[in-house]
Amino acid sequence: MRILIVGSGGREHALAWKLNQSPLRPEIFIAPGNGGTAEEGTNLPLAADDIPGIMDCVSRKGIDFVLPGPELPLVLGLADACAKAGVPCFGPRARAAALEGSKAFAKTLMREMGVPTAEFAVFSDHAAAVAHARARGAPLVIKADGLASGKGVVVAKSLDAALEALQDMMVRKRFGPAGETVVIEDLLVGEEASFLAFCQGETVIPLPAAQDHKAVYDGDAGPNTGGMGAYSPAPVLPESRQDDIVRTIIRPVLRKMRDLGCPYSGILYAGLMITAQGPKVVEFNVRFGDPECQPLLLRLEDDLLALMLACSEGRLREVRLRSSPQAAICVVLAAAGYPGGYPKGMPVSGIDAAQALFPGRLKVFQAGTKIVGKTLVANGGRVLGVTALGGDLAEARSRAYAALEKIRMDNSHFRRDIGHRGLRASPPDPGESA
Ligand code: AMP
Ligand code: GLY
Repeated sequence: MRILIVGSGGREHALAWKLNQSPLRPEIFIAPGNGGTAEEGTNLPLAADDIPGIMDCVSRKGIDFVLPGPELPLVLGLADACAKAGVPCFGPRARAAALEGSKAFAKTLMREMGVPTAEFAVFSDHAAAVAHARARGAPLVIKADGLASGKGVVVAKSLDAALEALQDMMVRKRFGPAGETVVIEDLLVGEEASFLAFCQGETVIPLPAAQDHKAVYDGDAGPNTGGMGAYSPAPVLPESRQDDIVRTIIRPVLRKMRDLGCPYSGILYAGLMITAQGPKVVEFNVRFGDPECQPLLLRLEDDLLALMLACSEGRLREVRLRSSPQAAICVVLAAAGYPGGYPKGMPVSGIDAAQALFPGRLKVFQAGTKIVGKTLVANGGRVLGVTALGGDLAEARSRAYAALEKIRMDNSHFRRDIGHRGLRASPPDPGESA
């Protein structure tokens, strides 16, 4: 079986690594991939948003299964193109991927289905948006409707900041058409958690909860990034609450997607805020999170390929998912300056030495790397993620940080407090066995 993974991050390296453990022994191609995926299969020089190029490659290489990592190819219709070509694809069609591709669509659907989320209003007219913001008052969260590479959300503590964000998105069109419509919503207060599940039609198979660390610096200071680290399980969302999340959040969404004539298939990722009134949805993603994927796959005990094939072939209800009771953590090593401008080309060394410290329990997943001649060099903002298993979060964390000591790269930066909320939390409740 020939698999094409689309994307180039740590998530895609982790997916390739895990699929390579499948007894189905797939042959793996990655478009465009990175220095790490080159060790798992064949990198192909194709952009993740080049749908015609990807489909051409699918037919030329005789690809049997397509796995898009990021949201963009899904929102652009890669799953639809695969369906047309008769090639199975893991992930939703474009109309269902609108759950991530349009925040207005997702919010309106949640309101209709009574899914807990922040109060909101949608605007395409700048003057009306300004009037609403003034009437509602700060704090407010201003969101570009469409995809904006994770930069389209402004948490505005003052009215001035909210008005500035509206000006930026709707008048200066900083995000192009993605910001012509905005969602203005109330600020949610609490701790965030990532809840991911394999979904197909109305079948839901949850993964254990994870927690991401979006801010670039320790103590959650500095601007938001794609994610500087993640761990699982997340004590803030114990397994005992999984059924409630599925019942009140995931199933209503799947039911509505079915009623709209675009049944959902793939990973549905609910970004949650655990508020004093219970979990509320901050956003939906239609794919694995990066870096949440890395610790989740390290814990996954089943054959990922069998799970994905069951999902894309409409047999998800026939399979089970088991995760290791151990904890896993991923600490991201980034280029200094990220998420702003950053240098590239710095040699990266010590990965083998890092992995040799804890064989079978630690894996370095590469993201922004490439091989030049025989040297591995930095080629992106998030360069790699050191991902470790441990008997508990403290052990996983000390392994990851010990391994990071072995990795050498100039102009690099990592957070030293990944997992801090999980460590501070009281021991998990007795229902927690993930
Ligand atoms: P999103 O792209 O919608 O996930 O937003 C990015 C980040 O902004 C989230 O992970 C939160 O940290 C923050 N955020 C988004 N919406 C809200 C909200 N209503 N209240 C508080 N924080 C939010
Ligand atoms: N780590 C957050 C995301 O993948 O969207």
